[in-house]
Amino acid sequence: MINPSRRLDHLTTSVFSEMAERKREKINQGNDMIDLSIGSPDQPPPLIVRKHFSNEVLQDHSYQYAINSTQAFNEAVVYFYRERYDVEIEPRDVLQLMGSQDGLAHIALAYLDEGDVIIVPDPGYPIYSACAHIAGAELYYVSLTEENQFMPDLEAIPAEIRDRAKLMITNYPGNPTAALATKSYLEKLVQFGINHNILILHDFAYSELIFDNKKPLSIFSVPNARKTAIEFNSLSKSFNMAGARIGYVIGEPNFLKPLAVLKSHLDYGVFLPVQHAAVEALTGDFTFLEEHCQTYQQRRNVFINELKEIGWSVRQPDGGMFVWAKVPSHHTSMSFSLAALEAGVVVTPGNAFGNAGEGYVRIALVQDEEKLREAAQRLREIL
Ligand SMILES: Cc1ncc(COP(=O)(O)O)c(C=O)c1O
Repeated sequence: MINPSRRLDHLTTSVFSEMAERKREKINQGNDMIDLSIGSPDQPPPLIVRKHFSNEVLQDHSYQYAINSTQAFNEAVVYFYRERYDVEIEPRDVLQLMGSQDGLAHIALAYLDEGDVIIVPDPGYPIYSACAHIAGAELYYVSLTEENQFMPDLEAIPAEIRDRAKLMITNYPGNPTAALATKSYLEKLVQFGINHNILILHDFAYSELIFDNKKPLSIFSVPNARKTAIEFNSLSKSFNMAGARIGYVIGEPNFLKPLAVLKSHLDYGVFLPVQHAAVEALTGDFTFLEEHCQTYQQRRNVFINELKEIGWSVRQPDGGMFVWAKVPSHHTSMSFSLAALEAGVVVTPGNAFGNAGEGYVRIALVQDEEKLREAAQRLREIL
């Protein structure tokens, strides 16, 4: 027996493995399950993007190593940020990623040595803490609660942590919290980064799923953000291109360089037809994005109303793909998720996203309205 590295000990949470195992059993037994556990879009990218992709796939020259992004891709991101978020960047401020996961998974390795500190949200998307474990870094968790509107009190972070931290991850619209940040919070965050010499990593993967006519807030809409922040984004959720594995991080080239150096040893870039398809998406007709956002907003409305109808009042998501729902008080996150599984609905226990997620479940709006209504009705019996 050759033991794997100890760093793997931290990489699978028992909550996720237990749920995956139980779900498999249920499916193998032939049960009809409504799976609302994973944030994988159920719809395709725009047809024009797929047509462009299929055309590129047929070209002889498409199969070389890409190594880096094409200039057209970087320019497309510049255009997209100008049109959608009113933010001016230059092509050299863009580093292409194989999905934002690629960047988030490797950023700690690029910046942190053993014992260095990274501040992450609790609850938070799992790679935020996993990247620190991979790098052997020390984690400091800030709690996101309904009471603080899911924006942590930066003043409450101990002075010792503020001094030692090199990175801080933040994510709006939030997964799993479905919350948005206010402009004044982002301003405080930028000032916090500047004051304490911390690189702020804003995960903006759900930037196009923002409801009720609110405006998406890139961290670069805050003056001086370039001095302390970089922003991760992706085509996965905005254009339903999750399986195509393409995303990017933007910011001062000096901040991007360590990640670029690391990545030059890890991969040889994104398949060129995927890059071309991404350019088509980022510079294409944005009515797709409006309709896409409407679809999720409508799903949210239908699902939340249906939950209300069965007697379960949950916080209305402001954006993103998830409902972050407080479970009835006689349940824990896990007991509710197991009961939901028995009722034919797969959700994710909140404690899979950190200790502060206990008492919640995350429900992904990745099925059509009819299925969501049906899921709510199935949950009626376990409330
Ligand atoms: C908050 C958040 N960030 C990043 C990602 C990674 O997405 P991708 O690598 O497909 O861009 C996800 C995926 O679910 C996510 O929920």
